[in-house]
Amino acid sequence: MADMEIPDYDTVTDHAAAQEAKRLVGLYPGNRLKKFSICGNSYWLKRSDRPAIYPVGKLLHGIASPILYPPIIKSSPLRSAVKRTEDEFAKSKALNAVGIPSPPITLVTPTVFIAPDLGQTLYDKISEFLLSHDHQSIDALLRRATASLGRLHAAGLIHGRPNLRDMFEHQSGDIGFFDFEEVPERSMPFADAAARDFWLFAFQLAQYSSSRESAIEALLVWVALAPREATKRVAVYYHDLKTIMYLARFVSKIKSGRDLRQFIGAYDLISQAIEANPKQWHYTKEDAEIEKYSRNKPNIVHRVWYYFCSFPIFSISLIRLTTLVFE
Ligand SMILES: Nc1ncnc2c1ncn2[C@@H]1O[C@H](COP(=O)(O)OP(=O)(O)O)[C@@H](O)[C@H]1O
Ligand SMILES: [Mg+2]
Repeated sequence: MADMEIPDYDTVTDHAAAQEAKRLVGLYPGNRLKKFSICGNSYWLKRSDRPAIYPVGKLLHGIASPILYPPIIKSSPLRSAVKRTEDEFAKSKALNAVGIPSPPITLVTPTVFIAPDLGQTLYDKISEFLLSHDHQSIDALLRRATASLGRLHAAGLIHGRPNLRDMFEHQSGDIGFFDFEEVPERSMPFADAAARDFWLFAFQLAQYSSSRESAIEALLVWVALAPREATKRVAVYYHDLKTIMYLARFVSKIKSGRDLRQFIGAYDLISQAIEANPKQWHYTKEDAEIEKYSRNKPNIVHRVWYYFCSFPIFSISLIRLTTLVFE
C-alpha cells in the first residue's frame, strides 16, 4: 500500500516527535534505529527500509519456501518496506487490543515510525541479573515472559521472533512485545507459527534458565496457556526432529557452535517435558500412529525426497531459524 495514510498525530508531543524524527532521517539517512528525546520524552525511530541483516539468506529462504516441508521451516513472506511498516503498526495495535502490552507506534512516513522508549528490554534485565548472579530473578522473569507468549498465542496472535531483546516489562507488571519483523502466520498455519514462536523462545530458556527444572517449569507455563493445536504441533515437530538430532549431536561433537548447542539444549528440554506427559501437550496415540504411517510411506519417491532433498534443506532452514534468535 504505497499510499499508506499517515494519520493525524494524537498529541502535540507526537507531532513534535514526528517532526524531529523527519529531521533525524535527513541527518542520518543510513541509520536504521535512532533513539532521541524531545519535550522531555524519549523515543526510538525505526526505518523499515534499512534491513538489519544482509538479506541474501532471507531472500533465498523466501524463494525456496513454497516447496519447503514441514511448514515450520518456511520463511516469512518477503514484503516491501511499506508493507513491513504497515504490518508492524497493525500487529502492535492487535496486541494492545487483547491487553498484551506493545508500544504505541506513530507513523512518520510510510517506511519510518517512532515508538516511545520502553526502557530496558528483558535481555538487558537478564544481563544485569547475570552480572549479580541473581538466577532466581532470571527464572522468574522467564516464566512471566513465557506466560505472556502463551497469552499472545491464546489470543490468536503470533510474535514471529520472540527474542528477549524484543520484550519489555510494562508498568502493569505484564511482559510486552515489540519488533514484529517476521510474520510466519502468513506462510504457515497458525498452529505451526505458534509452535515456531515457542521453539525460538525455548532456545533462550535453554540458555538462561538456572536449571533444567526451572526451564521445564517455564515451558509448561506456555503449555497451560497456549491453544491445544499449537502444543500438539510442538510435540509433532519434536518427533519429526528425532532423526535429525542424531546428526546434530554428531556434528556438535566435531564442531560445537553456540547455535547448535542451544538448539540441542532446547530440544532436550522439550523432549523431557513431552516424554514426561505427552497428554499435557494434547499429543495422542492416534497422532503418533498417523505420523508413523506418513514417515514410513511405502512410496519410494517420497522416501528419496525425504532423505536426500528434504533433509539437507530442513537442516539449512533450521540453521536460519536459529540465527533469528542469535543474530
Ligand atoms: N521503543 C523501544 N524502547 C526501548 N528499546 C528499544 C525500542 N525500540 C528499539 N529498542 C532497542 O533497539 C533494539 C533493536 O530494535 P528492534 O525494533 O528490535 O529492531 P531489530 O529489527 O534491529 O531487532 C531493541 O532490541 C532494543 O534494545
Ligand atoms: Mg529486535
